[in-house]
Amino acid sequence: MPGGPIPRWPQRPAAGSKPLPRGCDDGRVTDLRTAHTADLDGAALYAARALLDLVFEGDMSDHDWEHALGGVHALVWEGSELIGHASVVQRRLLHGGRALRTGYVEGVGVRADRRRRGHGAAMMAALERVVRGAYELGALGATAEAASLYAARGWELWQGPSSALTPSGIARTEDEDGSIYVLPVGAELDLSGELTCDWRDGDLW
Ligand SMILES: CC(C)(COP(=O)(O)OP(=O)(O)OC[C@H]1O[C@@H](n2cnc3c(N)ncnc32)[C@H](O)[C@@H]1OP(=O)(O)O)[C@@H](O)C(=O)NCCC(=O)NCCS
Repeated sequence: MPGGPIPRWPQRPAAGSKPLPRGCDDGRVTDLRTAHTADLDGAALYAARALLDLVFEGDMSDHDWEHALGGVHALVWEGSELIGHASVVQRRLLHGGRALRTGYVEGVGVRADRRRRGHGAAMMAALERVVRGAYELGALGATAEAASLYAARGWELWQGPSSALTPSGIARTEDEDGSIYVLPVGAELDLSGELTCDWRDGDLW
């Protein structure tokens, strides 16, 4: 990712971009918008990637970024600056003999100087609406910092063994055990059972 200033929100929101109620944060007006990747222009995508590079302090790989694309983004704008991003993309998680259509949350980050003001929760609320309306299950791999935010919103810690459906068969992903959270929607779940994610490049969960 090239350095330099984070580009600004385009003069007019992209087609398909949905404004949600405005917030006011210490006199700063913030806008939460949701949009599919296809409806974000290059400047907005660049701003999102640059924000996540900042938030994850250089630990955001190209694969991590690619994992956040192809679904619905929640973006918090403060004027023309992007201060929050999260997205939900479709994956298949195997559980109980089923391949569950899953809304998988990726790329959750709020600029460090704008945290603990409810932006993370507001983005999650927007994405949970998508999960509840379009999927059988929500899932995500949580950082230790974010775990309490998800738990407080009804996401449940997966207790059973995790694995991935790799090109050479199912392989345990034991390092991820204890950090996977799910949002039950319609699927019947046994939280102590096995949960297997589909294959992808980069981090599997
Ligand atoms: C995790 C993260 C996205 C949360 O964003 P945020 O905007 O701070 O989230 P919120 O403000 O909605 O909630 C965070 C906390 O602030 C609290 N909070 C919210 N509004 C508050 C307010 N006005 N005053 C005081 N506390 C407040 C929330 O209750 C929550 O408390 P908790 O941590 O004890 O659960 C942010 O900390 C971040 O970007 N972290 C680094 C990247 C990361 O770990 N991402 C998660 C990947 S899974």
